[in-house]
Amino acid sequence: MMTEPIVFITGVSSGIGLETALLFKKKGFQIIGSSRTPEKYQHLPFPVVPLDITSQESIDACVRYLKRDIGRVDVLVCNAGTMGPVAAGEELTSEALWQVFQTNFFGTVHLIRAVLPLMRQQDKGKIIVLSSIAGKVGAPPFFSAYTSSKHALEGYIETLAKELAPFHISVTLIEPGYCKTALSQSIQSPPHPLPEYEPRRTFTHTLQTYAIDHGRDPRQVALAILKTVQHPNPPLRVLVGLDAKFLDAGRKYLPEKIFQFLLNKMFSWRKAPPTPVTPVRRFLLNSKKADRAWRIVSTGMVVLALFQLASFIFKRKPDS
Ligand SMILES: NC(=O)c1ccc[n+]([C@@H]2O[C@H](COP(=O)([O-])OP(=O)(O)OC[C@H]3O[C@@H](n4cnc5c(N)ncnc54)[C@H](OP(=O)(O)O)[C@@H]3O)[C@@H](O)[C@H]2O)c1
Repeated sequence: MMTEPIVFITGVSSGIGLETALLFKKKGFQIIGSSRTPEKYQHLPFPVVPLDITSQESIDACVRYLKRDIGRVDVLVCNAGTMGPVAAGEELTSEALWQVFQTNFFGTVHLIRAVLPLMRQQDKGKIIVLSSIAGKVGAPPFFSAYTSSKHALEGYIETLAKELAPFHISVTLIEPGYCKTALSQSIQSPPHPLPEYEPRRTFTHTLQTYAIDHGRDPRQVALAILKTVQHPNPPLRVLVGLDAKFLDAGRKYLPEKIFQFLLNKMFSWRKAPPTPVTPVRRFLLNSKKADRAWRIVSTGMVVLALFQLASFIFKRKPDS
């Protein structure tokens, strides 16, 4: 008897998690979502169970439910995450840093560890982990807690993927650029603010909030996750969005000095500007517009190439 694949997604109350759950549901998967306040999301067209990934007790209770009441997990989407404080390294207490790691890194690691016995028993499974392009590039400044937690996740998952391959369990890191979600609301004030950092911190905070609030539709990430899950042999990493692809290419192919110079131009200043969101930054940080511009340019290039090819073929003299 064929049954719908079971997909468990953490953090379905908003943003990428919600859009992924809705898309998978539409495509015929059986969805179970989670939230720290599931009672608020019972109107959603799939069950939402309680889960706080910073609590081992909560993870154990959730996985017990999945084993007992559902019996299997075909796809685990580790989506839950937080931005944490906007703070210079010097303004960041160990406790604040630990809190971000507890959600973004340890929470994800503990949940995967709890679900793995079930997947190994099934002898198959797919694990999708929401990283970020910030998991590869240390920008913007003042978000070192978020960036380092995602960097840690990248290293952990890359290693795990090799260990799990013999059990037919794939692991994929999704690396999106900016998306318009509730993530900017999870940005917290610095735990130990120092006046010396105040203007530049506020500047970067404004840029980061602008970029998320003008980010691409999170449904693009949901679609990338769906394609990954439907792939017979999912890749280790999937970039989503033009900004993520450019930053990734910059890191890979540009000399480090030039790459860091460009990032500094984007996120720093020497003389206080009248507004952080200058027209150039407004264009570069507005992922929706940048994606659209890129689509128009690339479609134009393909049309031009086809036109050139057609004129080359039709202008060729017939062989005598
Ligand atoms: N938006 C972007 O620009 C962007 C870019 C790259 C990567 N990402 C990554 O994408 C993922 C989803 O973020 P989003 O942008 O969709 O943000 P979002 O709208 O704020 O969603 C975050 C989700 O995480 C859940 N969550 C937070 N802390 C949790 C905890 N301790 N335990 C369990 N669930 C928790 C929240 O659920 P409840 O509050 O209901 O519990 C919420 O549903 C994150 O991992 C983020 O780092 C986002």
